[in-house]
This record gives sequence, structure tokens and C-alpha cells, in this order.
Amino acid sequence: MFDFSGRVALVTGAASGIGRAIALNLARQGAQVLVTDIHSDAIDVVVKEITDAGGAAAGFVQDTSVREDNERAVAYALEKFGALHHAVNNAGIGGQPTPTGETDLDGWDRTVSINLAGVMYGMRYEIPAIEQSGGGSIVNMASIHGLVATGIGNSAYTTAKHGVIGMTKQAGVDYGPRGVRVNAVMPGYINTPLLAQVDKTFYDSLVSKHPAGRLGEPEEVATLTAFLLSDEASFITASAHLVDGGYCAL
Ligand SMILES: NC(=O)c1ccc[n+]([C@@H]2O[C@H](COP(=O)([O-])OP(=O)(O)OC[C@H]3O[C@@H](n4cnc5c(N)ncnc54)[C@H](O)[C@@H]3O)[C@@H](O)[C@H]2O)c1
Repeated sequence: MFDFSGRVALVTGAASGIGRAIALNLARQGAQVLVTDIHSDAIDVVVKEITDAGGAAAGFVQDTSVREDNERAVAYALEKFGALHHAVNNAGIGGQPTPTGETDLDGWDRTVSINLAGVMYGMRYEIPAIEQSGGGSIVNMASIHGLVATGIGNSAYTTAKHGVIGMTKQAGVDYGPRGVRVNAVMPGYINTPLLAQVDKTFYDSLVSKHPAGRLGEPEEVATLTAFLLSDEASFITASAHLVDGGYCAL
């Protein structure tokens, strides 16, 4: 457990999967959490889960690929909770598993606009608000495919996640002396709705690539994220961290 009491955290893509687990985990540890997503009904469910458990949360509908939505989400956090100390830029989509030379370019634009530009748009407004609130920390959700390619195509996803790691390093360096730490998390394959559609053969082939012998759970990503956000990680910034069951070592 880390101590987030008195802290305000904004989590994007928090209505499902990894983002939901991060929001619940931070709230359990005392943070006031702004749960943002494109799906308002699902936001309400997560906010209720947090408040029913005695935590503090509010919801905000936000498309992270729309610049103004990011500005409005940060403004809402400041209005609702009076400060912003932490942000988790987690919202993302899976992209399309096709070889590079067959990439659907509309799909490319969409994936890059959410998985890469959306992270930049988020930090553009989160960082000044965090500085204004006295400092804090950010985690950007990358992937093992920010380090290595996929075996099934998907240039947009691989490119975006590599870019998130570069952007994280730059932001961490820029704000190291100014009290804002910025790190990235690189999960292996995690059991979330993002993977719900894959058939059993493909699922089993994914499992075989993880020396842990299974896929990860959202809570395991949430634990690393909470650590990196917390004061316990005070000397960790501008870096990317695996939670991948050994995938990248194989
Ligand atoms: N599941 C995995 O295996 C895995 C592995 C590595 C990294 N990731 C990354 O983790 C993050 C979360 O993925 P997940 O597996 O929890 O997926 P998920 O589909 O369960 O959740 C993603 C959430 O993001 C929201 N979202 C999508 N587009 C959005 C937008 N434009 N603006 C705001 N919200 C938006 C969705 O509505 C959804 O609630 C993504 O960035 C993904 O790339 C996932």
C-alpha cells in the first residue's frame, strides 16, 4: 500500500480493464480520482464502485484524441478537487494486426491519434496543473510493443507505444528539476476486454510467449503504476518499466 491521501489523480480510459483497476487501486489508497473515458455509463459504474467502497471519485467524459477534451478534463479535476497531483494516460485501442505494407491508413490515423497524440494532449494540460498543485507524477501506458514489434503486424500500435516511451523520457527530463516525475509502464498481454475477442488458439499462443505461463491481470499493472506514481518512487523518472511475465526476456 502507498499513501495517496490528499492527492488527486486523473486516470484516462478508466471505465474498463487496466484503467479501471488503476482507478480503484489509487482510490483504495486514499486518492481522489477523476475517472475519464469515452463511455459515460461505464464511467458511472466505476465511480460508484469507488464511492460504495468509501473512496472519493468523480467521472468525466473525455475523448483523449480531442485536444480540448484533455484541457476540459484537467480543468474539471481542478474545479472538482482543487488540485491535480497525478495523471495516468492509459486510454488506448488495439489497432489492426496487419503487415505494414497492408496498413489501413484510416486505422493508422485513429490508433496514432488515441495511443500517441492522446498521451501528448493529456500531458500538455496535466503537467502545468500538477506544477501549479505543488508537483507530482505521471504514468503513461505503453506496452511491451513499445520495446519490441508484434508477431502479427500492427505498425500503428507498435509505433505509438514506442513513441509513448520517447515522449515519457523527454517529459521526465524536461520536468525533472521542476517536481514532476514522468514514467511509462510496459505491460505484457493482460486479461482485459481488449483481448476478449481473440480465439483460443491465438490466446494460447500469447500465453506461450510469457515465461510466467499465463497472461497478466489488470491489478498487476495497477500495482506497478501506483508504485511509480507514489513518493516511494521518488528517484524514478524519465524511464519505462516492464510488467510482462518475462515476455521481453525470451
Ligand atoms: N490488455 C493488454 O494486453 C495490454 C497490454 C499492454 C498495454 N495495454 C494498454 O493498456 C491500456 C488499456 O488497455 P486495456 O487492455 O485496459 O483496454 P480496455 O479496452 O479494457 O480499456 C480501454 C479503455 O479506454 C477507453 N478509450 C478508448 N479510446 C478512448 C479515447 N479516445 N478516449 C478516452 N478513452 C478511450 C475505452 O472506452 C476503454 O474503457 C491501453 O493503452 C493499451 O494499449 C494493454
